[in-house]
Amino acid sequence: MSLQKLLVCQLTVFLSAFTGASDGYYFGRIAKCLFTSPDRDIVAIDNYIFNKDVFIQFNSTVGEFVGYTELGVKNAEAWNKDPNRLAQERAEVDRVCKNNVKNDYDNVLVKAVKPRVKLNSLKQAGGRHPAVLMCSAYDFYPKQIKVSWLRDGKPVTSEVISSEELADGNWYYQIHSHLEYTPKSGEKISCMVEHGSFKQPMIYDWDPSLPESERNKIVIGASGLVLGIIITAAGLIYYKKKSAGRILVPH
Ligand SMILES: *[C@@H]1O[C@H](CO)[C@@H](O)[C@H](O)[C@H]1NC(C)=O
Repeated sequence: MSLQKLLVCQLTVFLSAFTGASDGYYFGRIAKCLFTSPDRDIVAIDNYIFNKDVFIQFNSTVGEFVGYTELGVKNAEAWNKDPNRLAQERAEVDRVCKNNVKNDYDNVLVKAVKPRVKLNSLKQAGGRHPAVLMCSAYDFYPKQIKVSWLRDGKPVTSEVISSEELADGNWYYQIHSHLEYTPKSGEKISCMVEHGSFKQPMIYDWDPSLPESERNKIVIGASGLVLGIIITAAGLIYYKKKSAGRILVPH
């Protein structure tokens, strides 16, 4: 996801629903302003939607309506021939984007707080059981975030469970994503976090070496074992010496 996409400010300009007999139909119009900074590269997109499909789109870079269905194409043609309609649309997206982009930038984006990301192993692989990793992002603002997984740099889609963004109740949010996978030697598993506070997606590599607490346990266990061996060996040597000494001493 590019920075531009992350900075989408979306405004629902007009929404209405026409209900049929039992199920409903949905007509909507969603305007988006895409930008990289509040006064540069602003692209306005105005989508006309029926049910879930965009049937006409106005893209300010293109400067006219484009149809995506039979009806959409027909209407777009007619609307493009109407100078009033075109002028109105251009003025409208200009007004919406110019006013809101600056507001959103000043009040949301400059207040963005970077997430603190932690990568943990929940379960080591064993037997037929896959390993489970958890990627957690804490204390970020605003809420919009994307957490995904990479295996040797390529996106992993299967066996991923993500929580929703959870509100901490203090304007900050957290999110958790689980990856179930079967480890292969030499591969690199990473967690990728995309957020408005980052200039680019951040990648955190999983270090499969044991965490420090586990390493400490092994060191303590190994020290105990070595100490045991030394004491046993010393005892054995002492016993041998004693019994050897006994033989040498004549009665
Ligand atoms: C708007 O139009 C431009 C020029 O054709 C294109 O590069 C851009 O991707 C379009 N934006 C969207 C969101 O469709």
